[in-house]
Amino acid sequence: MRESERKDIASQLKRYLSSRRSVWGDIAFRLQHRAEDRVDGTIADENVQAGSKFLETKAEGVKAAGKEAMESEMKAADRAQAASHDEQPNIERSSMGSNEDYEKRLQGKSIRYRTPSTSFEQASLFDDSAARGDTFDLSGEDLDSLAKRVAECRRCPLWEERTRTVFSNGSKRARLMFVGEAPGREEDLQGLPFVGRAGKLLTKILDSVGLARDEVYITNILKCRPPNNRDPNEEEVRACEPYLARQIELLKPVLICALGRVAAQNLLKTNASLSVLRGGIHYYNDTRVIVTYHPAALLRNPHLKRSAWEDIKLVRKIYDEEIAGEE
Ligand code: URA
Ligand code: SF4
Repeated sequence: MRESERKDIASQLKRYLSSRRSVWGDIAFRLQHRAEDRVDGTIADENVQAGSKFLETKAEGVKAAGKEAMESEMKAADRAQAASHDEQPNIERSSMGSNEDYEKRLQGKSIRYRTPSTSFEQASLFDDSAARGDTFDLSGEDLDSLAKRVAECRRCPLWEERTRTVFSNGSKRARLMFVGEAPGREEDLQGLPFVGRAGKLLTKILDSVGLARDEVYITNILKCRPPNNRDPNEEEVRACEPYLARQIELLKPVLICALGRVAAQNLLKTNASLSVLRGGIHYYNDTRVIVTYHPAALLRNPHLKRSAWEDIKLVRKIYDEEIAGEE
């Protein structure tokens, strides 16, 4: 592709961007930057072509761009997997096989869990402080005031070792919510969810279906980092869950995507394994929940990326249907 063509496409994308404030405007923005990056010699021609396709057929163009990126990512993962195959013990493969069978048997079944609301009654059910006579009522908080309460929270021992609380990231107007487990080291330092290595992969996964981080809402089950990233314990989850419940109540997402086992099990109040929960549609009150791998698991097991991509495509599809239904 000639330099002048690239520049032309980048500037058309820019015009498209300034003419619209929408999801597609955001996508045009990112493609424009990629196209301009290529002008600086860093990114492959395909991005520019995807940008040009986007201009022709907006939605189709961006899906193609994401799909292309994800497909090449998966091919690389497959190659890495094939290369390491001989050295790997077979445990994972055999357990994957049996999990898949189990998953097939459970296909179509879903788990519906009704959470209590964030009213005082819930506090008295779950929270010792209520038993002691303190009230813990979040029903008057909006997202900003809720974040302030979290920043001062000492409801479980994790407050002692935290650098910062991690409340959320993304748009307060988003209707698609991602819930992870708990802050890691980088998140604890920055006070933002999913900013470390797993977070960078999450950004790529979102990008693969044309979602920008700032058009979704991202948070965690726990708002403080457990020491050495150990799994959250029951006491911590119970202490912290009213914050997430209020976040969900305020945001009213059309869909929640649970990232990993800990998020899924705690949101859905189940002990079912991730492989059982994946692929089905579950409910948190009346909000649909889809379960996928935690990005950190994908970093450890790149061969799972293919299934994760199926999940995120389903997220995008349901989200699009819901949003279209509301307009
Ligand atoms: N892992 C999570 O579950 N959440 C984060 O915010 C970062 C890593
Ligand atoms: Fe409070 Fe949650 Fe942090 Fe525990 S993890 S101190 S409940 S904000």
